[in-house]
Amino acid sequence: MVIKLLEGTQGIGVVLAETYQAAKSVIEAFRGLNANILVQEYIKEAGGSDIRCFVIGDRVVAAMKRQAVEGEFRSNLHRGGKAEKVKLTPEERLTAIRAAKIMGLKVAGVDLLRSNHGPVVMEVNSSPGLEGIEKATEVDVPSRVIEFLEKNSTKGTNRDRIQA
Ligand SMILES: Nc1ncnc2c1ncn2[C@@H]1O[C@H](COP(=O)(O)OP(=O)(O)OP(=O)(O)O)[C@@H](O)[C@H]1O
Ligand SMILES: [Mg+2]
Repeated sequence: MVIKLLEGTQGIGVVLAETYQAAKSVIEAFRGLNANILVQEYIKEAGGSDIRCFVIGDRVVAAMKRQAVEGEFRSNLHRGGKAEKVKLTPEERLTAIRAAKIMGLKVAGVDLLRSNHGPVVMEVNSSPGLEGIEKATEVDVPSRVIEFLEKNSTKGTNRDRIQA
């Protein structure tokens, strides 16, 4: 299983426990430090890769696959992982859109793992970064966000207080 410190980022505090004994020791150690942790099934068959889906509204506008360097299971770009554009299956697309919707997010970065039992959601980010996904997919993501806002905003009730 994978044991994660909730405060962690860039793969720091993400631990792979390969045996029951190792998992027990790591969980005990983290609990001893009063750390907040999350435990997930290890998706070995993902082969050190994950998929970032950038969701806007009810669409995935860009998706990239991040692949970890040899001998590493964490695909974080900060750890040397490489990103490339990826084509999603309809099931992956739907999973990402549903995950964002369930979290109440109109803009989200949904991270999926390709497991033997279909796509699984690893994480949903409410303020996803733009740089990596833009580079990998060449999609102008910020413009897509702005277009979405323009299309979906309703006329506000606030008035300009400055009197002409
Ligand atoms: N359950 C899992 N099974 C297989 N690989 C995993 C699993 N959880 C995480 N990984 C790998 O480890 C990497 C880092 O994990 P995760 O994204 O959860 O933490 P983080 O990057 O440190 O946190 P954040 O994304 O919030 O900054 C993932 O990108 C993925 O490649
Ligand atoms: Mg991550």
